[in-house]
Amino acid sequence: THQWRGIIEEYRDRLPVTETTPVVTLREGGTPLVPASVLSERTGCEVHLKVEGANPTGSFKDRGMTMAITRAKEEGAQAVICASTGNTSASAAAYAVRAGMVCAVLVPQGKIALGKMGQALVYGSQILQVDGNFDDCLNLARRLSENYPVALVNSVNPYRIEGQKTAAFEIVDALGDAPDIHVLPVGNAGNITAYWKGYKEYSQPSPASTLAGGADRPALPALSTRRPRMWGFQASGSAPIVRGEIVKDPSTIATAIRIGNPASWQFALDARDESGGFIDEVTDREILRAYRLLASQEGVFVEPASAASVAGLLKAAEQGKVDPGQRIVCTVTGNGLKDPDWAVAGAPQPVTVPVDAVAAAERLGLA
Ligand code: F0G
Repeated sequence: THQWRGIIEEYRDRLPVTETTPVVTLREGGTPLVPASVLSERTGCEVHLKVEGANPTGSFKDRGMTMAITRAKEEGAQAVICASTGNTSASAAAYAVRAGMVCAVLVPQGKIALGKMGQALVYGSQILQVDGNFDDCLNLARRLSENYPVALVNSVNPYRIEGQKTAAFEIVDALGDAPDIHVLPVGNAGNITAYWKGYKEYSQPSPASTLAGGADRPALPALSTRRPRMWGFQASGSAPIVRGEIVKDPSTIATAIRIGNPASWQFALDARDESGGFIDEVTDREILRAYRLLASQEGVFVEPASAASVAGLLKAAEQGKVDPGQRIVCTVTGNGLKDPDWAVAGAPQPVTVPVDAVAAAERLGLA
């Protein structure tokens, strides 16, 4: 009868909470790490998918949001605000409900997926569609949080990064050590920052276990002995880190990562350089190919932005950058149901049959 308690309770000794902190949770985290046989075969490696679409609101944002909203609540905030391409806003809206707070969200008009808009609406947040892109929304959210009584819960809020780093802990717990390579999509660059922080910290005993050490109780050993190389992938039309300059009018079908001026830009470069990794780009065509492969070959339905990690891995493999025999984890960041338009687009219309077994069997090629 054991149930996963959410990332704060599961990793309490490595997160900025105390005994009296009012934990706001939907029992996020504890997501599947799924072996990917087709990707493993294609790369000659052992590839796993960290399926973050299995979180309560369907994306990795819940890890950061449980921390950010918990600390906002502890500090007495009554309202929170975020800019979002859709997943942050869905998550903020849900956790604000749990905390009894008002949630305001700023989204780029016409550029967020239908499922995400539905989430913001049904959780009851106050939505403003901004006549601009995500970067404009984030500037506006920052200005509002500086001048009005509302707490900013974008990943520039350090508690977001603290929560999101727990995904790296879970991977080390599941595999027994860090992988050789960790691959993920990059938008505002908070997540690559968080994973790298998580991997670095999990090679050290936790502060709590160090304190608990002593003559009769030695500190626990470090949990990971290695650190992965961090590989990040941006969408070609929204690849400021790859280009080395702000992209004024970012474009991509992967609306979640349609970002021209990432807030955690420098931290992403640090993760890349400290780990000996790289940040590259993938085209929308490559993203959609990986998106379809994940669903039809691995049985994992993700949103397009999430497929950027896998598209990047396949691109790197084709370029001969992937030595065989390595252990690789790709984070797939959001659930495919968030953006069903891309599943339907281009697919053949299902045929209609009468209530007739013979006719149905014929259409199915069974008879
Ligand atoms: N994948 C998905 C599904 C996302 O929603 C995001 C970011 C990313 C990847 C990129 O992560 O920004 O930490 O580099 N979504 C933000 C949002 C911008 O508003 O939901 P990142």
